[in-house]
Amino acid sequence: MPYAKIAGTGGYLPPRVVSNDDLAAELATRGVETSDEWITERTGIRQRHIAGPDVKTSMLATEAAKIAMADAGVGPTDIDLLIVATSTPDVIFPSTACLVQAQLGIRQGAAFDVQAVCSGFVYALTTADAFIQAGRARTALVIGAEIFSSILDWDDRRTCVLFGDGAGAVVLKAADEPGILAAELHADGSQQGILCANGRIEAGQVVGDPFVRMDGQAVFKMAVNALSKSAHDVCRSAGVGLADVDWMVPHQANVRILNFLGKKLGIPTEKIVITLDQHANTSAASVPLALDVARRDGRIKKGDVVLMQGVGGGFTWGSVLARM
Ligand SMILES: CC(C)(COP(=O)(O)OP(=O)(O)OC[C@H]1O[C@@H](n2cnc3c(N)ncnc32)[C@H](O)[C@@H]1OP(=O)(O)O)[C@@H](O)C(=O)NCCC(=O)NCCS
Repeated sequence: MPYAKIAGTGGYLPPRVVSNDDLAAELATRGVETSDEWITERTGIRQRHIAGPDVKTSMLATEAAKIAMADAGVGPTDIDLLIVATSTPDVIFPSTACLVQAQLGIRQGAAFDVQAVCSGFVYALTTADAFIQAGRARTALVIGAEIFSSILDWDDRRTCVLFGDGAGAVVLKAADEPGILAAELHADGSQQGILCANGRIEAGQVVGDPFVRMDGQAVFKMAVNALSKSAHDVCRSAGVGLADVDWMVPHQANVRILNFLGKKLGIPTEKIVITLDQHANTSAASVPLALDVARRDGRIKKGDVVLMQGVGGGFTWGSVLARM
């Protein structure tokens, strides 16, 4: 049975940077009060990238994918599985994965989307790992991409300051040695109400509330508890101690969540990759973007053990433990 190994990574952010001060000034024109001080202190976020009005999720995904493919030394004819994790697809259908496939000139293999909100990338990576282990694919492109700004209510300061747009990608290849050491996924649909966007299209109209709504404190507690248990479980199933984890690459929602998590797991802050200060929460894109940043700046090296974790709407969560 082949193993799956990360062979390349890439990230792409839309060029427009909106600082907390910029955002506070923009929101003030709508009568919404916030400040750099509040956002920084409560979340650790300092800025986010926001896509222009004509930019679509597939475009960000394609740019990140090109970089990951170049990094892995693979071309369009090598990819036999393409998965995009997103909650902000370009259109109802076809899937964003099919749109990306066309933009990259890939003509073979399966392409589909995974919808697990901020856990989407971890879900997609676990799925690709299973395809490769089962011999159903040899070179998978796994992308997390979002234009979350398109589903934010700019009059709701409890949510609109938290998110940003972007895309991250990895190339996962069949290999003789692991690679992905273990993975585990969870969902608890009974908690759907704490983080949701409940609108839908019906008879050509948007019905219900299409914006992100969140019970911040419930999400906070659930995230810390779910991720700490998941970290223990995934390490146990790989036979790896938490002390052997070189880098933690968690979903980037709130620096306070990450500090709590690190403390609970005994993982020092210096081993936790943090990009939320620069990117804010990019939902399904946050983990592959952070992975790419830490590989490119030389922190994550070949052979390092990396714990990736996702958590988000659904409620969903999960972990992937990988040797780079
Ligand atoms: C959202 C979050 C930052 C809010 O922080 P908090 O410390 O729980 O703050 P609260 O919601 O209790 O709000 C405290 C006060 O700040 C106010 N407030 C909320 N957002 C604000 C903003 N952007 N600017 C200024 N004030 C704000 C609230 O109205 C409240 O004021 P009140 O006491 O007068 O009603 C925090 O709960 C969180 O990060 N939760 C997890 C969110 C998350 O990770 N989501 C994504 C998961 S994938």
